[in-house]
Amino acid sequence: MSKGPGVQKMFDTIAGHYDLMNRLMTFGQDQHWRQFVVDKAGEQENEWVLDLACGTGDIAALFCRSSPRIHVVGADFSQNMLREAGKRLAGQPIYWLSCDANNLPSADNVFGAVTFGYLLRNVDDSLHVLREVRRVLKPGGRVVCLDTTPPEKNLLYPFIRLYLRMIVPLLGRMVARDRSAYAYLTGSTMGFHTSDELAGLFRQAGFTGVGYQKFMFRTIGIHWGTK
Ligand SMILES: C[S@@+](CC[C@H](N)C(=O)[O-])C[C@H]1O[C@@H](n2cnc3c(N)ncnc32)[C@H](O)[C@@H]1O
Repeated sequence: MSKGPGVQKMFDTIAGHYDLMNRLMTFGQDQHWRQFVVDKAGEQENEWVLDLACGTGDIAALFCRSSPRIHVVGADFSQNMLREAGKRLAGQPIYWLSCDANNLPSADNVFGAVTFGYLLRNVDDSLHVLREVRRVLKPGGRVVCLDTTPPEKNLLYPFIRLYLRMIVPLLGRMVARDRSAYAYLTGSTMGFHTSDELAGLFRQAGFTGVGYQKFMFRTIGIHWGTK
């Protein structure tokens, strides 16, 4: 069965508490990683950029700040996340689009950059989505992906595992009043591709110049590539 409908319903439910939970779970680091994503997308003056799975719109807003002459589309399949984004960023020149990352309503070769934060962990087939992203990028366009990665088996592993298995769901219950959504975050992180596997999928999708950098005790990965 596809993950899609359950994921969509879950994000519709937690949309109102999403930003606060992000700040708490990442000790306020999450905006630095989003800025890194925008920086890695490179100079996009007069280009169209797509922030896929935009959620409440943080990456899209950072793109707007990067240049007054950039055309930004924020896309997501959760109506409530898009509604929050529209409320928070009212007045910002961002086009909000409701769509599924598996099937983008765009012609080929349109965007100078496509970014996504915490999308691939939620889809059934990362390679399919990466190919779809590559289709809508212009030749030379940049893809940048931010996501959690499964903790590495090192000295910190027991602490990170404890944090993911106990603290995150507890915070979810206390702040978002939804333990299961944040238990899902833990499960989907533990079961996600390692950074090397994900870099391999980027190459398999046809991207070149693929690289990645890890953050927060190597539990967050940012991958990039070029069409
Ligand atoms: C964890 S949130 C991340 C939001 C934002 N990118 C950020 O940095 O905070 C994941 C988002 O991905 C969206 N999403 C998950 N699967 C999707 C899909 N197949 N198509 C479009 N959006 C999707 C969810 O609705 C949710 O808003």
